[in-house]
Amino acid sequence: MSAADPPQRGPWARKPVEQLVAETEDGGGLKRAVGALDLTALGIGAIIGTGIFVIIGEAIELSGPAIILSFLLAGITCVFSALSYSELASSIPVAGSAYTYGYATLGELAAWILGWDLILEYGVSVAAVAVGWGGYLQDLLASVFGLELPDSIAGPPGDGGTVNLPAVALVLGVASLLAYGVKESARANTVMVIFKVSILVAFVVVGLLSFDGGNLEPFAPDGFGGIESAAAVIFFAYIGFDAVSTTGEEANKPSRDLPIAIIGSLVIATVLYILVALTAVGLASQKELAGSDAPLTDALRAGSGIGSWAGDLLSLGALVAITSVVLTVLYGATRIIFTMARDGLFPRSFTKLNQRRVPARLTLGLGGFVALIAAFVPLSAIAELVSIGTLFAFLVVNLGVILLRRTQPELPRRFRVPLVPLLPGIGAALCVYLMLQQPLVTWGRFGLWMLAGLLVYLFYGRTHSRLQRGQAPRTGSYR
Ligand code: ALA
Repeated sequence: MSAADPPQRGPWARKPVEQLVAETEDGGGLKRAVGALDLTALGIGAIIGTGIFVIIGEAIELSGPAIILSFLLAGITCVFSALSYSELASSIPVAGSAYTYGYATLGELAAWILGWDLILEYGVSVAAVAVGWGGYLQDLLASVFGLELPDSIAGPPGDGGTVNLPAVALVLGVASLLAYGVKESARANTVMVIFKVSILVAFVVVGLLSFDGGNLEPFAPDGFGGIESAAAVIFFAYIGFDAVSTTGEEANKPSRDLPIAIIGSLVIATVLYILVALTAVGLASQKELAGSDAPLTDALRAGSGIGSWAGDLLSLGALVAITSVVLTVLYGATRIIFTMARDGLFPRSFTKLNQRRVPARLTLGLGGFVALIAAFVPLSAIAELVSIGTLFAFLVVNLGVILLRRTQPELPRRFRVPLVPLLPGIGAALCVYLMLQQPLVTWGRFGLWMLAGLLVYLFYGRTHSRLQRGQAPRTGSYR
């Protein structure tokens, strides 16, 4: 089978890239409204959140001060994948991200699997971070106003509560903003990003003044094994730069701006993370930070002797940070599902747009579904599941670059990964390596989710696919 003649039927049916791009040029439905700066802010918005403000404590428990190396290892894994995302996003600027890249390179079944996997990554991670948000809100209310929410409405079952109402309120509020408009959401995100980055920079500046090198001893109490395990946990902190690639149809100049935003946001987050981690382990001992729910606040209190207002400011930073993660990742999730519905793999009603050309009904529906998970599930159960799902998507994107270079060498690529297949090959190997660090129970949950997806494809997607029926994709409709 030649590249110009991809199969059009069966689970391996592929969509030529030219077709994918043409389908969205005149009638995909979404509105082009965001530029390079907004997109970079969107990337940072999606990346910096629960990982650096909450999960870092769990990781330090495993690695000790060598957490800096764990951040480096996870960051390097992401850089390779970010290069691959950039190449595919610049040549296939369509809203579905890795799902669409899968459709072009590996066929419909693989695309579906990737799309289903991305729903796990995006949808479930929103629930996870919303749960972390609830925790910080509690701390801040207690510290500033002396207010305490009753346990029963402030936490999920298993964490001492019945329902996590703050998390529900956050998800529904953000979903309403997204349903209102993409430009307004991007603006709100940019403001939140400036605030959260400023808070982290202030933490580094203030913290480094009280840096105590003695806290760095012993540097890696559990050796390289501890560093590896912590890297697998802290990988969660980097998730999100890929969300930029879901904006392919709303970016003003996608082939130029998407690579800038994907790589730019990741580099900024990586540098900031390493500085924040170094500051935290220089301020307090491993014992003081391990497993803390608010590790940065605890580090500052332990090391600098600064008053409680600084801790409150950090908590406020965490709240804002996590809000922007919810905003950007929920946005990405809706665009992926929208693209899948356009291809017939989800019901037609998911493609309805409002007068402002936003898939409002899908956004609010997904918000409601995610709010339900956030209401009843504890954070720790979800974070690792999200990481393994994301690593899987990164793996396929790295392999997709190698494959597409072979099948469609002539395709215009505004951004090209250097040294193909070496760099995407290393990226793919690093993803497998970090996946192997995840506990067995996470693999089991991941397997179950994918199995459920296969069943949905078998009983719905396979028979409703527009490609299989020889029909053009639906356009976003106002009806
Ligand atoms: N990277 C995102 C966070 O840390 C998911 O919250």
